[in-house]
Amino acid sequence: MRKFMKWIGFGLLGLVALALLAGVALYATTSQRLNRMYSLSVETISIPTDRESISQGQRLFIARCAGCHGANAAGTVIFQDAALGVISAANLTAGRGIGGDPLTDADYISAIRHGVDHTGHPILTMPSESYFYINDQELGEMIAYLKSTAPVDNPLPATQITPLGIALIGAGVFGDLMAAEHIDHQAARPVDAQPGVTVAYGDYLVRTGQCRTCHGPDLTGGKDPDPNAPPAPSLTQAGELSTWNEADFIRALRTGRTPGGRQMSPFMPWMYINQMTDDEMKAMWLYLHSLPPQGQK
Ligand code: HEC
Ligand code: HEC
Repeated sequence: MRKFMKWIGFGLLGLVALALLAGVALYATTSQRLNRMYSLSVETISIPTDRESISQGQRLFIARCAGCHGANAAGTVIFQDAALGVISAANLTAGRGIGGDPLTDADYISAIRHGVDHTGHPILTMPSESYFYINDQELGEMIAYLKSTAPVDNPLPATQITPLGIALIGAGVFGDLMAAEHIDHQAARPVDAQPGVTVAYGDYLVRTGQCRTCHGPDLTGGKDPDPNAPPAPSLTQAGELSTWNEADFIRALRTGRTPGGRQMSPFMPWMYINQMTDDEMKAMWLYLHSLPPQGQK
């Protein structure tokens, strides 16, 4: 019996050692991915300087980016956990707060469309696979707005992931957090959809509005990478949306209240999405209606 227990003991010890080894290997390969240097020669676009473009850019920035970078672009802590680490979304106000170097136009394009920061490293969590599709005009307006901001002093803890956090990122526990790895950086620019209340323009707005980050790659339901977030339901006709009309949809995105009277969780960024115009919301509604009904409620 004692011999038997001894062998079980060895077996368990072996398993623990194996798990540790696997963790260390994951840590090592994931660290390599995080430290990878990208040298991109990004496309050039023209950045407007007029007031109208800057205020358009501000509206687009709030709708698409404020959930992480804050409504005033001064950055926020998007994730903090003693065991896993801290992720801050950068202060993007001019000069990156007080004392930082301003980003160049190429730095902005590389970060937003390619998911690579000004030091050449992949940006964690930022959904650049969606922002890759933002057309030149809107991207120019957003950059114009960011360049026009006054520096805001908002010191943030540096992004720092613990070895456990790094190993878990490598294991895919939080989904894909490094958009830079999935973007074809050499791909030709997509053909722009004409603005209008059309399925094609709704497709563009849903894509660039990063709805897929949480509602899933085919919008049939998914989850925000943050482990604390509730599930994001299907946006096809298989979900609750089958019982909504266009006005219900617009009201829900403006107020966070569903037609059934439920207040949506703040993980659904309606308080920023409500910067979209009625026509933009109508186009998204048309597009969502055109999808095959699939997914859990
Ligand atoms: C899911 C969260 C998230 C969203 C949404 C997001 N970002 Fe980011 N962004 C980040 C993180 C995290 C960083 C990296 C900050 C760091 O490493 O300190 C970053 C970095 C950047 C940088 C690079 C700063 C540098 O130092 O090179 C720019 C520019 C930027 N974001 C612009 C945007 C814009 C514009 C949008 C909207 C179109 C956006 N971001 C949406 C999380 C996000
Ligand atoms: C950061 C994650 C996130 C993003 C990005 C996001 N959503 Fe959501 N969404 C959620 C979550 C979570 C819920 C569920 C909220 C609840 O019921 O409390 C939700 C709920 C909804 C609902 C209500 C659906 C129902 O059946 O009750 C609609 C409509 C919706 N989202 C539309 C959108 C659209 C359109 C976009 C893109 C412009 C978008 N969402 C982007 C997380 C997100």
